[in-house]
Amino acid sequence: MSIVDPDEAARRLAADDPTGWFERLYAAAASGAAVVPWDRGGPHPLLVDWLGERELTGTALVVGSGPGSDAELVAARGAATTAFDISPSAVAAARERFPGSSVDYRTADLLAPADEWRHAFDLVIEVMTVQSLPPSLHPAATASVAGFVAPGGTLLVVAFAASDTDGPAAGPPWPLTRAEIDAFAAGGLTEVAVEWLDHRWRAEFRRE
Ligand SMILES: C[S@@+](CC[C@H](N)C(=O)[O-])C[C@H]1O[C@@H](n2cnc3c(N)ncnc32)[C@H](O)[C@@H]1O
Repeated sequence: MSIVDPDEAARRLAADDPTGWFERLYAAAASGAAVVPWDRGGPHPLLVDWLGERELTGTALVVGSGPGSDAELVAARGAATTAFDISPSAVAAARERFPGSSVDYRTADLLAPADEWRHAFDLVIEVMTVQSLPPSLHPAATASVAGFVAPGGTLLVVAFAASDTDGPAAGPPWPLTRAEIDAFAAGGLTEVAVEWLDHRWRAEFRRE
């Protein structure tokens, strides 16, 4: 079994299709020809830790939901949860992995967000999606993520951290700089907390 062809991402980028390789990877994984390297088999530890024991109310949106474990955790805590990924095979795999789930799994593109999702969710969870895109797409992806947050709502971002001394990343992934984390606060969000935890950012924002 091979992981994705190591040149696959670069080829896709060269072909000006920076998101197309995700579907290729998930489709290959579905047939047993690849593994999804970020599939942890459970929710991200920094999300688990952030949630603690709290129960949730209202609506939640999980961005780039991939294997689905983060969405399942948020739903289990009580949020009416929508989760989306650009890869139809990822969405199909999440539905299959969690039969009977209350999560509304959708295929959608962060770079072309649905109008009805604007300012629509009380909690938005973004774990490692923006960093999976080339830096030229980070501003649009970041603005799209922030735009999902409803008035009074919260955004949680988890991403690999680029330090000020790091050179350009070969990517994917392309770790986020502090300035790129701060950019989530554009469009009416305010920073609640930004933590640097073992080369990862965990950042919380709120729309007043
Ligand atoms: C590094 S993975 C992280 C997946 C998941 N958030 C996790 O932590 O396991 C990035 C995910 O973002 C999805 N993705 C990439 N570009 C996207 C886009 N433009 N719109 C929606 N999903 C996207 C990929 O298919 C992939 O599942």
